[in-house]
Amino acid sequence: MPLLHNKSLQRFMAGTFLERWGVRTLAEFELFMLGFHKDPALMRKLTTVRRGRKSLITGHEQFIIHSIVEGMRRMDGDIAEVGVYAGSSTRTICEAKGEKRLHVCDTFAGLPDPTSEDRGVEKPGCFACDLESIRAYLADFPNVEYHVGFCPDSIRDVLDGTRFCFVHLDVDLYTSTKQCLDWFFPRLVPGGILLSHDYSLLDGVRQAFDEFTAGRREQVIELPTTQCMLVKAADGV
Ligand SMILES: C[S@@+](CC[C@H](N)C(=O)[O-])C[C@H]1O[C@@H](n2cnc3c(N)ncnc32)[C@H](O)[C@@H]1O
Repeated sequence: MPLLHNKSLQRFMAGTFLERWGVRTLAEFELFMLGFHKDPALMRKLTTVRRGRKSLITGHEQFIIHSIVEGMRRMDGDIAEVGVYAGSSTRTICEAKGEKRLHVCDTFAGLPDPTSEDRGVEKPGCFACDLESIRAYLADFPNVEYHVGFCPDSIRDVLDGTRFCFVHLDVDLYTSTKQCLDWFFPRLVPGGILLSHDYSLLDGVRQAFDEFTAGRREQVIELPTTQCMLVKAADGV
């Protein structure tokens, strides 16, 4: 596990140039190393995707997102991401999704207020991003729809009948994670995957997952990165 995934170190560096520099350096190194046994052209593409963009996802995390989206391309259902910031993970999804519809959800005004469950998260308003710059960054990809505001409130009415094969959460906070789990999971197709960033780093994210999965058959699958995922059972609700 890379040193950068150390909780105390992350909290110390949170929001600083050191954090962004550290993640970028780690990501480029990870993608370079992956190129020795994965498709080197894909690793170059993933490196290019994040170049010039602020991002807190590592190369391995980016690879996992890309790989899952590619694997879900022939499943029924749309794709959604909540937590866009400068668009690195969103563009990574776009590079793999083909013609699938992608719902891009963010407040575009940065993080909402934390609650007592959240520790070590950035201040409210952090990670604000400009919708038009994201639109321009993703302009070459078809079937991308934008939902501005606090998710899931922003999509409750418009996407009520939609089903999803893949949902990517990168929202940092307990309430955001909890409410998105409650809203998206029942709308996942059987075999659909919900992947989240920061499960092993942020207390609020972990607590939301642990509460959501208590008493369910679907349990958290923890990955060697900061991520975790849930797979919807064939007869899951
Ligand atoms: C860490 S950033 C996302 C990083 C991004 N995935 C990347 O690749 O760099 C977290 C984002 O979550 C958004 N966010 C948090 N809770 C939200 C909610 N309930 N609804 C919409 N956006 C939310 C914030 O506005 C912020 O842009």
